[in-house]
Amino acid sequence: MKTFLSQKVKYIFFGGKGGVGKTVTAAGVALYLAENIGEKTLLASFNPVHSLSSLFQQNLSGGVVREVAGVRNLWAVEVQYEDVVEKYRARITNLLRELLKMSELSIDIKPLVEIATTNPAFHEAAAFDKMMDVVLKEGPNFDRVIFDMAAVANAVRLIGLSKLYGAWLQRTIKLRRETLSLKEQLAFRKDKVAREIESDPVLLELQDLYNRYMKVRNVLTDPAATRFVFVTIPTILSISVVQRFIEMVRAYDIPFGGVVVNMVLPREEAERDATGFMKSKYDEQMRNMEIIQSNFGQHVLSIVKQLPEEVVGVERLRVFARELIHG
Ligand SMILES: Nc1ncnc2c1ncn2[C@@H]1O[C@H](COP(=O)(O)OP(=O)(O)OP(=O)(O)O)[C@@H](O)[C@H]1O
Ligand SMILES: [Mg+2]
Repeated sequence: MKTFLSQKVKYIFFGGKGGVGKTVTAAGVALYLAENIGEKTLLASFNPVHSLSSLFQQNLSGGVVREVAGVRNLWAVEVQYEDVVEKYRARITNLLRELLKMSELSIDIKPLVEIATTNPAFHEAAAFDKMMDVVLKEGPNFDRVIFDMAAVANAVRLIGLSKLYGAWLQRTIKLRRETLSLKEQLAFRKDKVAREIESDPVLLELQDLYNRYMKVRNVLTDPAATRFVFVTIPTILSISVVQRFIEMVRAYDIPFGGVVVNMVLPREEAERDATGFMKSKYDEQMRNMEIIQSNFGQHVLSIVKQLPEEVVGVERLRVFARELIHG
């Protein structure tokens, strides 16, 4: 893990199955970089249900970047979805209104906006949009930005979206241009229409989205700037989720950084337990550790033991971070 972090990759994303320790791992890495290495670090959480506030035992909510009290060089943001969804809703309403105005149809756009903005894919698109915001707006202010991604499906779709988004935008921009130039050909005052095209709000909006997308896509696919790291625990289910993630990330040309194995039972503890319950659990984990070794091998960045207590508060996070960095 130390070697990996010394490569100075700016954007590190943590993904994995639900409850495996993504938040504590992302926070542990962020704390280490900020406190021990002295790098200005931002920890960004994309969980719909936020946990940074309870992890750091202080108010980090509100969707704004806040300085983390008690940890030098560390800032955190719990990215809020509602405002993004609202912003998106307004943007889509505008786009639809403009499009309908052009086609000269008189349709009530409310139901259309509802359909477009109440499905889960829309929320994920909004989250992706916000992630782009963090990269573009906050990226330049920090040495490192550490992302705590939401559970499995979301993270995968966000990765997938990063490719689809650009293709879709490009097609939409092309269509819009074609429609407008058709109008120009038919128009009596061609110069006036040409000026209209230049300032077409839909085209400008789409172009702006596309430009932001391209910038972020370049960052996301640059191995010198970005890595995706997956957290797993020694269970078959969690391992296969990570396996799928790695394949997917590679298919989308997103740089893969490695795997963190969390919540591994310490051997001494297993042997001390007279009932044999812990020993049985331990043996099961060790069988799964063999699968981890054969599947991920040199990609394992750290093996973190199960601590006796939940990771809550800065002090316990420091203990966890030490295990994570040196494990
Ligand atoms: N090595 C560990 N030892 C002890 N407790 C741990 C360890 N790793 C994580 N935990 C605890 O396990 C719980 C889940 O961890 P965390 O919240 O980081 O998981 P997550 O993957 O972010 O979950 P979610 O998918 O819900 O966001 C937390 O209560 C955390 O404190
Ligand atoms: Mg979490």
